[in-house]
Amino acid sequence: MKLKSSFVVLPLALMALSKSGALAQTVTIPIETNKNALVLEADDKHDLSTIYFGPKLADGKEYNHLSAAYGKDNDYTGLMASAYAPAGSRNLLEPAIAITHADGNQSLDLKYVSHKVDKVSDDVSLLSIVLKDQVYNTEVTLYYKSYFKDDVIEQWSTIRNGEKGTIVLNKFASADLYLKAGSFFLTQYHGDWAKEMRPETSQITHGIKTLDSKLGTRADLFQPPVFMVSMDKPATEDEGTVLYGSIEWSGNYRTDLELDPENNLRIISGINNYASAYQLKANESFTTPPFLSVLSANGKGEASRKLQHWARNYKLLDGNGSRLTLLNNWESTYFDFDETKLAALLKDTKKLGVDMFLLDDGWFGNKYPRNGDHSGLGDWQETKTKLPNGIASLVKGAGDNGVKFGIWIEPEMVNPKSELYEKHPDWVIKQPKRDEYYFRNQLVLDLANPTVQDFVYGIVDNLFTQNPALAYIKWDCNAVIYNAYSAYLKKDQSQFYVDYMKGLYNVLSRIRTKYPKVPMMLCSGGGGRVDYNALQYFTEFWPSDNTDPLERVFIQWEYSYFYPSIASSNHVTDWSKLPIKYRVDVASMGKLGFDIVISKLPENDLKFVQNAVTNFNGFKDVVWHGDQYRLLDPRENPVASVAYVNEAKTKAIMFNYLVNYRYDEGSKAPIRLKGLDPAKQYKVKEINLYPGTNSGVDENQTYTGDFLMKVGINPKVNSGRSSVVLQLDAQ
Ligand code: GLA
Repeated sequence: MKLKSSFVVLPLALMALSKSGALAQTVTIPIETNKNALVLEADDKHDLSTIYFGPKLADGKEYNHLSAAYGKDNDYTGLMASAYAPAGSRNLLEPAIAITHADGNQSLDLKYVSHKVDKVSDDVSLLSIVLKDQVYNTEVTLYYKSYFKDDVIEQWSTIRNGEKGTIVLNKFASADLYLKAGSFFLTQYHGDWAKEMRPETSQITHGIKTLDSKLGTRADLFQPPVFMVSMDKPATEDEGTVLYGSIEWSGNYRTDLELDPENNLRIISGINNYASAYQLKANESFTTPPFLSVLSANGKGEASRKLQHWARNYKLLDGNGSRLTLLNNWESTYFDFDETKLAALLKDTKKLGVDMFLLDDGWFGNKYPRNGDHSGLGDWQETKTKLPNGIASLVKGAGDNGVKFGIWIEPEMVNPKSELYEKHPDWVIKQPKRDEYYFRNQLVLDLANPTVQDFVYGIVDNLFTQNPALAYIKWDCNAVIYNAYSAYLKKDQSQFYVDYMKGLYNVLSRIRTKYPKVPMMLCSGGGGRVDYNALQYFTEFWPSDNTDPLERVFIQWEYSYFYPSIASSNHVTDWSKLPIKYRVDVASMGKLGFDIVISKLPENDLKFVQNAVTNFNGFKDVVWHGDQYRLLDPRENPVASVAYVNEAKTKAIMFNYLVNYRYDEGSKAPIRLKGLDPAKQYKVKEINLYPGTNSGVDENQTYTGDFLMKVGINPKVNSGRSSVVLQLDAQ
């Protein structure tokens, strides 16, 4: 990271020590963003605590009054609000860090030593605070990277072993937050294949609530790492104080939410220490992945707009760029295709008007051709019987048709029925003395092994070297890790889960060094693999294999709290009997793709789809780079409504869907917009009309933003108009 300037904010605390060893005065460290302040304080015993996280104070000097105002009288450990609670000394609650020292001792007591702030840019600052144990030579640096405009904070730690021998990290969290409020409400998510992102909200009671994953890879299939905590009452879209949090890690994670005896909430989040005690040799250090949080006093909508804005600007690969619309062959052919079929699909891609054809699973394997999901995975050579002229001729064929070409891979995996498995059984994660156990008939390759990392990198590198015009990769990951064991790690098995992820990131960062921008989709047999560490390397993710648009209204709604729409790959498929218009409209709230048989579409459906692609190209910029406003919640209303408004507030797109199919349900009243300019006049036009149907709005009328936000407009959604898209243009 390049730092523009670097300076020490306060004199090193040790210099301020009195003779008794106490700090002459407490050291208050505020981290201020546009609207908030996270305030830390080292007291006279050098214990570093979080003393405040809320709206920033007008007068910064008054942060010094905070600890007296809140008091710590009942905390006889002095560590409940610790900024990084250590295990084995005075602490009686869940620790953020637990260590076994080289001599076997398990105690740790971290004391504040110094801190500094580096200004990364006008918007970004990096605070680092050094803590040290007074008995053992263990040093921890806490990092807080704050993004001023978006009120986002990333925090992580680096643990250094200054001892002569090896120490063991039994727990090594990234963040230890402390929130004060009258009550706390947790919104968490759960799911499974085709049922991703199901929310549950409950009041947090005393004790510990743990969100975690032990799946090894595609780790958030059952429980994604994202969560929300509302303070005092459950936040709504526009009201209430809410903190969003997520660890940026694609493997096993663990977040503990502990309501302590003082009724305050401790949030300790990091890599899951389950089966993962990590050894650090003398002079080695371990850096934890960032934990991300955003705090808003104005409800869930504002929090998500900040997070989406931050993601586009700082994390998601090419977040401010463009994306390719596409036609995918998965659901139209599955494994059953050849050059003739694909040639026809390339023509359909052009006819449809999208940018690219995406060849899915089934193009590889010769000894064990990939004609189903039981064989061939790992053997990345074109199946000669299906594609005698190879990928190169398909890429050329796409170019001849004026479209780009993308390809599916699942490089971390292997079918036992493959040449790869026969040649390299020691590259596969499996217990040496136990039966193999499969997830979708496959096993996971051992990315803790550098040779396997080279192999996986080589799959991508070879594809691009042999086909420089290849425009896109769909990177799939369809299995979890059973029987976690690495032949490479031998006796150090407890490092496996962490080293697997480090190996994956190593491969991805090598790919990005050589191919910085080529778009790649993070897919995982449906959802179950999206987080902000992975999204540094990917331009988009696959929210779910469930592409039924009614389901997608709900699934995309929940993802949108945490991820921007430009990252959401939405495909139109035949999963549902809902009209093609409904399916296309829902998929247009993100990165539009198709996975249907274009040649079999009835004439009007085809006309509609071609027109919708043209419309999408006209408004995609607003959906991808604008601000998103959730207007009507599908869980509370018969109609769901979502709008996107561009930064200049000159253009907005409003999507409205019937989600309750009972008799006479629909939009009975105007739906209020948000985020418009009250003073501007807007013309409202219905777009994506199915051929032969009429607009439900009066297109000769203009309305002020004021009217549209106070009264709204009725999109006239009903069973005959189950999906309505309105475009608003400032005059
Ligand atoms: C996963 C993906 C699908 C498809 C198949 C291919 O299930 O989610 O989109 O690519 O794999 O096997």
